[in-house]
Amino acid sequence: MEQLYEGKAKQILSTDKEDEIVIRYKDDATAGNGEKKATITGKGALNLAITTRIFEMLEENGVATHYIKTLNDTDMLAKKVTILPLEVIIRNISAGSFAKRYGVEEGIVFKEPTFELSYKNDDLGDPLMNEDHAVALGLITRDQYKEVKETTLKINKLLQDFFHGIGVKLVDFKIEYGVDKDGKILLADEISPDTCRLWDEKTNEKLDKDIFRRDLGNLTEGYQKVLDRIRG
Ligand code: TMP
Repeated sequence: MEQLYEGKAKQILSTDKEDEIVIRYKDDATAGNGEKKATITGKGALNLAITTRIFEMLEENGVATHYIKTLNDTDMLAKKVTILPLEVIIRNISAGSFAKRYGVEEGIVFKEPTFELSYKNDDLGDPLMNEDHAVALGLITRDQYKEVKETTLKINKLLQDFFHGIGVKLVDFKIEYGVDKDGKILLADEISPDTCRLWDEKTNEKLDKDIFRRDLGNLTEGYQKVLDRIRG
C-alpha cells in the first residue's frame, strides 16, 4: 500500500481498488493547530474502535458514510472521496472556542443545537466561515450546504441518543464530508473522542481530547471508558 496523504492523526493509503482507501489511525495527538504534540500509545486503536461502532450505527440509521469495514486494530477500509475543506461543527452545550469567543462559561445547555462551519486551512488557523463565504469560495454549492446541514442535524440527534444510552453528554463535535466519484456526499473522516466533547452525565468528567489539550490526566483511560461503555 502506498501512502497518499498523511494528516496529524491519520494516514491515507491506497489499495488495489481505485475507489477504496485504507485509513490508518495513528497514536499521535496534536492540539492548538499542532503547537502541542505527543504520541499516546493506544489512542489510534481506541479512536478506530469507537469510530467503527458509531459509523455502523449511523449507517443502520440511513446516514451514508465512507465506511466499508474495519480491517484490524489501526486500519479502516473506506470509499475514496474528495474531502470538502470544511469542518462542520455542532454544539449542544457551550465549551471550547465558543465559550472563549463569546466570553461565556462552559456548560450552558442550548435550546437548539448550533451549526457552524470552519474553513479547513491550517495556515489560516481554520477560520470560522458562513454559508455565503463557503459558496463564494466555491467550496460547496447551496444544494450541498443544505444537504450537509440537514444530515448533520440528523447525525446530532442520533449521536445524542447513542451517547445518552451510555451515560454521556454530547457537548459538541466536528465532522467532515466527502464527495464520491458519483457526486454523492458521504460522511467521512472519524467520529471519536478526538473530534467530540464528551462529558459523563453524572459527574461531568471529561472523556475526550480536552484531557490532552488541558493536561487533565490520562487520555487513553478516558477514551477506554467510552469504548467500554459502548461495548456494554
Ligand atoms: P472548538 O470548541 O475548539 O471549536 O471545537 C469544537 C469541536 O470540534 C470539539 O468537539 C473539538 C472538535 N474539533 C476537531 O475535531 N478538530 C479541530 O481542528 C477543532 C478546532 C475542533
